[in-house]
Amino acid sequence: MVVGQIAAAAALLLPLAAAITPEQMLSAPRYSAASSNPSGEWAVYTSTNYSFETQEAATVWKLLNIKTGDISDLPFADDVSEMVWVGSTNTSVLYINGTNDEIPGGVTLWTTDLAVSPIVGTQVASLDAPFSGLKASNTPSGGINFVVNAKAYANNGSAYNEEFASTPATTGQLYDNVWVRHWDTYVTQERFSVFGGSLAQSNSSLSLSGNMTNLLLGIDAPITRPETPYQPFGGSSDYDLSPDGSQVVFMTKAPELPKANFTASYLYVVPHDGSSVAERLNGPNRTAPEEAKGASANPVWSPDGKRIAYQQMDGINYESDRAKLYIADVASGEITLLAADWDVSVGSIKWSHDCDELYVTGDYIGSTRLFIVPADAAADYKPENVTDSTTVVDFNVLPNGDALISSSAVWSSRMIYTVTPDSKTTYLYKAQDVDAELAGLGPDDLSFEWYTGTLGDQQQMLVIYPEGFTKNKTYDLAFIVHGGPQGLHANSWSTRWNFKVWADQGYVVVAPNPTGSTSYGQALTDRIQGRWSTWPYEDLVNAFAHVRDTMPFVNTSNAIEAGASYGGYMTNWIQGHDLGREFKALVAHDGVTTTFSDFGTEELFFMLHDQNGTLWDNRETYAMNDPFTHARNFSTPQLIIHNDLDYRLPVSEGIAMFNALQLLGVPSRFLHFPDENHWVLNRENSLLWHHTIFDWINYYTGKTESLSNEGVITQ
Ligand SMILES: *[C@@H]1O[C@H](CO)[C@@H](O)[C@H](O)[C@H]1NC(C)=O
Ligand SMILES: *[C@@H]1O[C@H](CO)[C@@H](O)[C@H](O)[C@H]1NC(C)=O
Ligand SMILES: *[C@@H]1O[C@H](CO)[C@@H](O)[C@H](O)[C@H]1NC(C)=O
Ligand SMILES: *[C@@H]1O[C@H](CO)[C@@H](O)[C@H](O)[C@H]1NC(C)=O
Ligand SMILES: *[C@@H]1O[C@H](CO)[C@@H](O)[C@H](O)[C@H]1NC(C)=O
Ligand SMILES: *[C@@H]1O[C@H](CO)[C@@H](O)[C@H](O)[C@H]1NC(C)=O
Ligand SMILES: *[C@@H]1O[C@H](CO)[C@@H](O)[C@H](O)[C@H]1NC(C)=O
Ligand SMILES: *[C@@H]1O[C@H](CO)[C@@H](O)[C@H](O)[C@H]1NC(C)=O
Ligand SMILES: *[C@@H]1O[C@H](CO)[C@@H](O)[C@H](O)[C@H]1NC(C)=O
Ligand SMILES: *[C@@H]1O[C@H](CO)[C@@H](O)[C@H](O)[C@H]1NC(C)=O
Ligand SMILES: *[C@@H]1O[C@H](CO)[C@@H](O)[C@H](O)[C@H]1NC(C)=O
Ligand SMILES: *[C@@H]1O[C@H](CO)[C@@H](O)[C@H](O)[C@H]1NC(C)=O
Repeated sequence: MVVGQIAAAAALLLPLAAAITPEQMLSAPRYSAASSNPSGEWAVYTSTNYSFETQEAATVWKLLNIKTGDISDLPFADDVSEMVWVGSTNTSVLYINGTNDEIPGGVTLWTTDLAVSPIVGTQVASLDAPFSGLKASNTPSGGINFVVNAKAYANNGSAYNEEFASTPATTGQLYDNVWVRHWDTYVTQERFSVFGGSLAQSNSSLSLSGNMTNLLLGIDAPITRPETPYQPFGGSSDYDLSPDGSQVVFMTKAPELPKANFTASYLYVVPHDGSSVAERLNGPNRTAPEEAKGASANPVWSPDGKRIAYQQMDGINYESDRAKLYIADVASGEITLLAADWDVSVGSIKWSHDCDELYVTGDYIGSTRLFIVPADAAADYKPENVTDSTTVVDFNVLPNGDALISSSAVWSSRMIYTVTPDSKTTYLYKAQDVDAELAGLGPDDLSFEWYTGTLGDQQQMLVIYPEGFTKNKTYDLAFIVHGGPQGLHANSWSTRWNFKVWADQGYVVVAPNPTGSTSYGQALTDRIQGRWSTWPYEDLVNAFAHVRDTMPFVNTSNAIEAGASYGGYMTNWIQGHDLGREFKALVAHDGVTTTFSDFGTEELFFMLHDQNGTLWDNRETYAMNDPFTHARNFSTPQLIIHNDLDYRLPVSEGIAMFNALQLLGVPSRFLHFPDENHWVLNRENSLLWHHTIFDWINYYTGKTESLSNEGVITQ
C-alpha cells in the first residue's frame, strides 16, 4: 500500500542518533550564556572542554556576530573569569582577570575594545580580594562605576582574602544559633557583601579611584546579618547597578527573622559611594501587597533609571511559592504587582530598551520559556510563551526588541538564537551540529507524553529514546524520579543527570512530573505539602502503568528506577512498597532514608513547610512519610550513593539505608565521595559515578554477565 510505503520510507529517513557515552558528555564543551553588547551587534560567551587524557579543562572566549552568526576566538583563556560590556564605545569591555601578580588571592580589572585589532588589555585596577560578580555602568563624568562581591570581615566590613587570614591555634567552631552549616560549608564569621568601586578618567586612561566600599554596612539587623549574594547559589543577579552608576539595589535575607526557618528576603537601595546607609525598598510597612512576605529576588534597574523590577514570593517560609512580578518606583517607593493572576513563577527579568515591557523567563510545561509582560500589565493579563519547549538558560533584550537566547535541550548543550516578540527564531549556534561528542543528537530523541495522576489530573512525562531507536524493538526501562520535590524533569541539558547518556546504555528513559512538580501551575506544586509519600507515589504507579499499557516498545518487566535528593527519598520509599517489586534494580543518590532525622538538614524552613510543622508537633506527618518504617519490605537490589560534603541531606542517610539493605541480605553497594556535596561535580568523580551506576543497572537488566569488582573495598 502506497501510504504504508511512504510511512516506511519516512521512518528510514529519521536520523539515527549516535550514542553519547559518559566520557563524551563529560569532555564535551560546556558553554556560558551569551552576553550581548549595547548595540545588539555582538555577543561574548565561553566554551570549556575537558580532556580525560591530560585531566585538564580548557576555556576559550568566543565573539559572536549576532547579524551574521560568525564566531571567532578571542585572545582570552581561563585567566579571564568575567566580562561586561561597558566603556566609551559599543565594543569596549571591562573584565576580571583572576590573577593578581602583586596581591596573592586578589584579582585585577582590565579594559579593552574587542573591535580594535590586535586586542590588547590594559590593567585598570588591582583588587586585594577574590572579587566576582562584576556589573558596571558608564558614569556621566566619563568614568565607570562597578559593583562586585566578596566575603567581608564581620568587624570592619573590609573584603576578606583567605591568603592573608590568620590561622587560629584550634579548629573548633562554636555556635549558639541554628544555621551552623549550609550546602557544603560550615558557616564562619564572614558574610558575602556587595562592594562599589569607581574607575576615573585621568590623562585619558582609567584607574581605580578611592577604596572599595562595602554597601551592606549599617543596616539595622537585630537577628540576621545582611549578606549578598545569598549563598551558595546567589550571584550578580542578587544585585544591580543603576544605568548611571549612582545607585545599587541588592537583596538580603530579612534582618529581623532567623534565616534557618524563614525564606523572607528584601531589597535595599543604596548610593554607589556608600554615602548613606541602604534603605529597604519592599517588605514590611512598604506598599507591596500585604501577602508579599517571602523571598525577593532578581532586582533589575530600568534603562531610564526610574524603576526596579523584581520578583517576590508570598509565603514567609516557603521556598517554592509562586514568584510574582513587581515593579517599584525608586523615587516614590510605590510598588505595583503585574499580571497578578498569571499562574507562572517568574525567573530572570530584563527590561525592554524603551522601558515599556519586561522580558521574563518562567517554568512552563516541562521547560523554561521566555514571556513578554507589559510594564503596566493588569491583574488578568496572561502572557504567551514566546519560546518553545526547550529551556531558556539566559537571555538579553536587543535594542530592536528581539531577544538573544541561550538555551539547552535534552539533545543540545547550547543553542544560541534570536527570537522576535512574535516568535520568529533565527539560530546562530547549535552545539549538536558542531561538537563531535553530540553528533547526531536532535529533537527526535525526546517526546512528551501525558498520563493520569492519582487525583485524575493530567501529568506529563518526558520519554527519551536510545541510539537507533525503532518502535519495532523493545527496550528496557529507566524510570527516573526528580528531586525537589518542588522541581521538574525539564527539556534541558544536564551534566549530572543527562537522560540521553542514560538512554544510550540501551534504555527508554521515562521521567515523570508527578505531584510536587513545578511548571504546571502552583496547585500541583503546593499539593505535596505534608504528602511526600502518598500522592506522588501513586502518581508514579500510574506513570509506570501508562508506560506498560501504551508503549509496546518498552519492556517494563526489565526496568530500573533511579533518583537523587527527593528522588532518592522516593527511591527508598518505592523500595519499601509494591512499585519496588516492578524494578530489577534501584539507585538512590543523596536521598532521605528517615524523615525522623529531617532536622539534620540546614534549611529548616524547607522541612518545616514540607512536613507541615515540627517533628514534635506533627509526628503523624513525619511517620506517614518515613521510608525506613517500611524496611521490612526492602528486597530489590539497590545502589546507594551519598557524599560527605552533602549538608542538605547528610551522608548518614545513605549509610543507614545501605546498612539496612546489607543486614536484610538485599544486594546493595555504597559509593561515596569525600569531596563532593549534594552533587557530583568533579569530572573524574562523575565518570566513576556513571560507570558504577551503569554497571549496576546493566547487570541487573541482564546486559552484562557480572558486576565489576574493580576498586571495591573488601571486608
Ligand atoms: C579543547 O579545546 C582546546 C581549545 O580550543 C583545544 O585545543 C583542544 O583540542 C580541545 N580538547 C578536546 C579534548 O576537545
Ligand atoms: C552604539 O551603537 C548605536 C547603534 O548602532 C549607535 O547609535 C551609538 O551611537 C553607538 N554608541 C557609541 C558610543 O559608539
Ligand atoms: C592576566 O594577568 C596576568 C598577570 O597577572 C597577565 O599576564 C595576563 O596577560 C592577563 N590576561 C589578560 C587576558 O589580561
Ligand atoms: C579588618 O579586620 C580584619 C580582621 O581583624 C583585619 O585583618 C583587616 O586588616 C581589617 N581591614 C582594615 C581595612 O582595617
Ligand atoms: C598625567 O600625565 C602627566 C604627564 O605624563 C603626569 O605628569 C601626571 O602625573 C599624570 N596625572 C595623573 C593623575 O596620573
Ligand atoms: C582607603 O582605605 C585606607 C585603609 O583603610 C584608608 O587609610 C584611606 O583613607 C582610604 N582612602 C579613601 C579615599 O577612602
Ligand atoms: C525559628 O527559629 C528560632 C530559633 O532560631 C526560634 O526561636 C523560632 O521559634 C523559630 N520560629 C519558627 C516559626 O519556627
Ligand atoms: C512596621 O511598622 C510597625 C508599626 O510602626 C513597627 O512596629 C514594625 O517594627 C515595623 N516593621 C519593620 C520590619 O520595620
Ligand atoms: C507555547 O507553548 C505551547 C505549549 O507547549 C506550544 O505548543 C507553543 O508552540 C509554544 N509557542 C511558541 C511560540 O513556541
Ligand atoms: C517495523 O515492522 C514493520 C512490520 O513488521 C515493517 O514493515 C517495518 O519495515 C519495520 N520497520 C523497521 C524500521 O524496522
Ligand atoms: C499540610 O498543611 C496544609 C496547609 O495547612 C494542609 O492543606 C494539608 O492538608 C496538610 N497536610 C497534611 C498531610 O497534614
Ligand atoms: C522482557 O524482560 C523480561 C525480564 O527480563 C524477559 O524475560 C523478556 O524476555 C523480555 N521481553 C522482551 C520482549 O525482550
